[in-house]
Amino acid sequence: MKAIYLIGFMGTGKTTIGKALGEQLKVQVTDCDDAVVENAGKSIPRIFEEEGEQGFRDMEQQTLMQLPSDNHVIATGGGVVLRSENRAHMKKNGIIVWLEASTDEILKRLESDQTRPLLAGGNKAERIQVLYDARKDLYEMTADIRIDTTGKRPDEIIGEIMSRLAESHV
Ligand code: S3P
Repeated sequence: MKAIYLIGFMGTGKTTIGKALGEQLKVQVTDCDDAVVENAGKSIPRIFEEEGEQGFRDMEQQTLMQLPSDNHVIATGGGVVLRSENRAHMKKNGIIVWLEASTDEILKRLESDQTRPLLAGGNKAERIQVLYDARKDLYEMTADIRIDTTGKRPDEIIGEIMSRLAESHV
């Protein structure tokens, strides 16, 4: 089986769905953010603070490229689609599933979150909207499979992904 890359905005459930999907498919799961943190030896907010967003993006790219691409589910960070190298790598090595959610639902899920530097300070709803608008086309052009997660339970989302994967003969 080729790798399955989960992409999508912050708060769309990539980590949770990634774990459940890995169990269902009986393959290993890696969360790209966790791998970055492990490689860097520091948290994501600290990486942003000390190395800036570009420093984080360099680490993210390097980590993504090092992850195994066979029999693996990979939950990516929401900004992984920003670099064309990352998009090309995922296209080449796997099938890409986009977890989508409305910005209202994303705001609800991230309302009290303190771990995402790009949403820290200022008006969270506004920040989400600006980033979402800037990235939507990138998710769309990168994805092989698009799943709307708004209002759905994890088991429903997994069911949908499994049937879409079956249709794609993965
Ligand atoms: C980011 C999303 C985060 C993490 C970092 C940057 C982004 O991952 O990689 O804070 O640019 O959207 P999640 O999508 O898992 O929150």
